[in-house]
Parts: sequence; structure tokens; C-alpha cells
Amino acid sequence: MIDIIILGTGNVSYHFSEVILKKNDLQLIEICGRKNSIPECFDKSISYSNDISKIQSADIYLICVSDDAIDSVNSQLNINEESIVIHSSGSTEMNCLSKHKKYGVLYPLQTFSLNSQVDFNNIPLIVEASANDELIKIKELSSILSKKVIECNSTQRLSIHISAVFANNFSNHMNVIAEEILEANNVDPNILKPLILETSKKTQYLKSKEAQTGPAKRNDQITIEKHLILLKETKHFDMYKKITEEIIKSNHEL
Ligand SMILES: NC(=O)c1ccc[n+]([C@@H]2O[C@H](COP(=O)([O-])OP(=O)(O)OC[C@H]3O[C@@H](n4cnc5c(N)ncnc54)[C@H](OP(=O)(O)O)[C@@H]3O)[C@@H](O)[C@H]2O)c1
Repeated sequence: MIDIIILGTGNVSYHFSEVILKKNDLQLIEICGRKNSIPECFDKSISYSNDISKIQSADIYLICVSDDAIDSVNSQLNINEESIVIHSSGSTEMNCLSKHKKYGVLYPLQTFSLNSQVDFNNIPLIVEASANDELIKIKELSSILSKKVIECNSTQRLSIHISAVFANNFSNHMNVIAEEILEANNVDPNILKPLILETSKKTQYLKSKEAQTGPAKRNDQITIEKHLILLKETKHFDMYKKITEEIIKSNHEL
């Protein structure tokens, strides 16, 4: 049995708590946050505290707070030196936890929102540890949560995080723009949903470059010009032009 305490009450904390509660080999001792009470969406059986100075003991403390709060939460965390402290951030160095004897990282490569369920078993869990004993323990925890556990150093994890920003955050922002363009022209944005689904689905069996279609891929200057004319007075003109140039370069350079 691995005893776990989660710090933070946001998206990642919620999803970790849900999956930990389902596992017989894991015990969620408590969640420690800064709110007076735990948000409604969390399971009612969870013990909650907002006093980090009275935190209980556990094998693993999982810090799931905003990246810029990891240092401050970590500095308030005083625990038994046999316990392991880990954070869940893609871009924060593991060594920021080095005031503890045993520390590491468990970064789940997925996008988490409160109102969208995820299948944890398929999420790549990127792990790193201060020494071998901690690595074994963090891997043990991770392999209970997911069948994909990958060991990386902090620089590799940062590159994974950057690629996730492109693949997920930027592509989602493209969908935000797509919806804005339709709304500005009185078209229901929901008509995009089958296209967004298929765009994502086909990358499961095609390389992303092979999956590319559209006027930029074909270097169809007549269509590109028509689009630019319609976008001329909007804030999306520059981005359309820049990304079109990038796709043309990527597909037509020798
Ligand atoms: N969301 C994702 O898709 C995702 C995926 C992988 C990894 N991560 C990583 O997981 C971690 C948590 O992300 P998240 O999406 O769960 O963030 P989030 O939903 O924004 O939640 C942030 C949590 O940090 C707490 N917090 C913020 N500033 C604090 C401070 N100064 N002192 C104490 N607590 C503070 C917040 O408390 P309040 O609620 O009281 O403000 C909240 O509980 C981050 O390191 C992030 O990089 C996120």
C-alpha cells in the first residue's frame, strides 16, 4: 500500500484523486489546499485540510499547484525525511524540491479539465527522481496509475512540455479562432465538431505531416488570397498568413 497526500485542489489534483481512490494499492490520506473547504466536485470521502503546518504523514506528497506556486508550497512543507515529495509539472526542474532528502517528478502528459473525464491508464506518466530508491517508488506508484511510464530528465521533460503546448494548447487556440470566425459570420460553431474529431482521430494512425490537407499544403495561392481578403480587417489576418507560410515551407522545402 502506498499512502499519498495531494497538495492543491485544481484540475490535476482532482483527476489524481479520482484515479487514486479507485486503486486498492493506493490510499489517499488527505488533500491539502489553501481554500477553506475542498471544491464540491471532489469525492466527499476525502479528508481535507487547509493547514499545511499540520499535514499528516504519507509515503508520497504530490504537489499539484500552479507552476509559480510550487516553490512557495514546497517551502512550507515539513515532512519525515523518508517520505518522497514530487510535483506534476512539465516545465519545472526537479531540483526545486531539493530541500527534501527524497524527491522527484510525476508529470502526466495529458490535458486535464474538471468537467472532462480521462482514462488514466493510457496517459504517459513522465517520471524523474533524485535517486534510485525514489525512482523505484515513483515508478511503482505510476505503474499502478497507468500502463505507460517513461523516465526522463528535466530537459527532456521540458521538451515534452513544449511539444504538448504546440499539439494541445496551440491547436485548441486555433479552434477558438475558428469558432470566432463562424460566430462573426452568423454560422453555428458546432458545425466544426466532426472536423475537429476527425483531425485528431487520423493522427492516431497517420504521421501529422501526412495528415495535413488544405490550401497551404497544396500551395493554392488563389484560395489563400481569397481567405486573406476576407480576413483583412480582422485580428486573425497575421496569424493566417504566418501559419500558411510555415505550412508551405514545411511541405515544399527541398
Ligand atoms: N491542467 C493540465 O492539463 C496539466 C497537465 C499536466 C500537468 N499539469 C501541472 O499540474 C500542476 C497543477 O495544474 P492544474 O491544471 O491543476 O492547475 P489549476 O487547476 O490552476 O490549480 C492550481 C492549484 O494551485 C493552487 N495555488 C495556486 N497558487 C497557489 C499559492 N500561491 N499557494 C498555494 N496554492 C496555490 C490553486 O489554489 P486555488 O484553487 O485556491 O487558487 C489550485 O489548487 C501544474 O504544475 C501544471 O503545470 C497540468
